Amino acid sequence: MEHVDCCQDSFRGSALPQQQRSPFRLLSKWARRSSLSTANSLMLHLQERSRILLRFADLIEKHNDEIAALETWDNGKPYEQAAHIEVPMLARLMRYYAGWTDKIHGLIVPADGPHHVQVLHEPIGVVGQIIPWNFPLLMYGWKVGPALACGNTIVLKTAEQTPLSALYVSKLLHEAGLPEGVLNIVSGFGPTAGAALASHMDVDKIAFTGSTDTGKVILELSARSNLKPVTLELGGKSPFIVMDDADIDQAVELAHFALFFNQGQCCCAGSRTFVHERVYDEFVEKSKARALKRVVGDPFRKGVEQGPQIDDEQFKKILRYIKSGVDSGATLVTGGDKLGDKGYYIQPTIFSDVQDGMKIAQEEIFGPVQSIFKFNDLNEVIKRANASQYGLAAGVFTNNLDTANTLTRALRAGTVWVNCFDIFDAAIPFGGYKMSGIGREKGIDSLKNYLQVKAVVTALKNPAWL
Ligand code: NAI
Ligand code: MG
Repeated sequence: MEHVDCCQDSFRGSALPQQQRSPFRLLSKWARRSSLSTANSLMLHLQERSRILLRFADLIEKHNDEIAALETWDNGKPYEQAAHIEVPMLARLMRYYAGWTDKIHGLIVPADGPHHVQVLHEPIGVVGQIIPWNFPLLMYGWKVGPALACGNTIVLKTAEQTPLSALYVSKLLHEAGLPEGVLNIVSGFGPTAGAALASHMDVDKIAFTGSTDTGKVILELSARSNLKPVTLELGGKSPFIVMDDADIDQAVELAHFALFFNQGQCCCAGSRTFVHERVYDEFVEKSKARALKRVVGDPFRKGVEQGPQIDDEQFKKILRYIKSGVDSGATLVTGGDKLGDKGYYIQPTIFSDVQDGMKIAQEEIFGPVQSIFKFNDLNEVIKRANASQYGLAAGVFTNNLDTANTLTRALRAGTVWVNCFDIFDAAIPFGGYKMSGIGREKGIDSLKNYLQVKAVVTALKNPAWL
């Protein structure tokens, strides 16, 4: 593994380093060994891949606190969140993918005729990965885990705001035994390093998480270069639907969590809270009380739930959205301004009486701003919830099984959480409908992003049977 500084000219344009340790050559070391002739060496190789990922998970646990501290320094998220949720999730992801290394296989399929047909699943090759700043470690895990389990080599570009944690954990992965050059971390900017990766003729696949606008650029760069397959995990405007039979206190708490978690900087944030009119006033009152109790401040302080936003650009953008909400006539229930004079802190903000046509109802705010909508009928809420360019996730709150079944099937979203939210185990596929993306990450579905499919058809002479 090496760190390629993309400010160097060597990474501009098509000039990815091609020396001995380049990912292009190292592919042979990591994956091609699986073409050795004996079954024994193949098994050894797969076990070795698995062991490396398992040792990596152990090292992540051992260094839990340092990794969490780096993530908080870089991102501003509460240290307790990084230490108790994100770093343990990274270890879980690595163990999950360690379990896949020797279970990825193709098929023998019966074709009509005297032919023996093998469908082989090969590593796709050199994988380019571009990740955002909101969950640097988890996005690293979602991408590196399946790519390594499938036997690929990687060039991963971190977000410019958050370069630290990926470098640190990649050093641990190296310590766990990953051969040099298999994983290459690039700290660089999007339009230079990111675009070079997406345009590179020797990169066989690109996986991206970030904004929908940049996702479109990635697709275009692939189209203009070598048509590398692209997976995209993009923005969202996820509905969180509270029926009148729901447990209101639980729904208030989870709606709060769904929106405010990680300073509101979540692709799947429950950013359109739809509440049945019979429980609407109670819900708004209780949501206000909860937001007022939210502890905002120094992310390293114990008990802090919300740190600063990632940077000045996002901070100003969120404040502009808040102003737009006020100007368009939504009711400002609480918050509505920055907090203090130092740092990018924003008051937990709630709008009620939000109308579907408002800008705050349609665009991704990516900040601590909850919008509450009123509805009175199941069909109405389905129609309104689906009336979005996005389709990443949805939350459904009801104690009626039939209502839940109707909603889970009617909502056009890649994930529907029922009486829970933001459950992200490694085994659960995640991705979007519509402009929220292409493809799925995590779970068994993530593997196909990193495999090439080859049909080998052999003529059979005098087969005993067909
Ligand atoms: P972005 O999508 O521009 O950046 C994400 C990643 O893409 C970063 O690594 C960046 O360096 C890279 N990138 C940017 N331009 C590129 C290009 N031309 N070619 C290749 N790579 C490029 O997101 P940004 O600007 O940080 O945030 C803007 C908005 O995007 C946010 O306000 C939020 O709405 C959304 N967003 C969504 C995320 C998600 O999890 N789906 C994560 C981060 C942002
Ligand atoms: Mg951008």
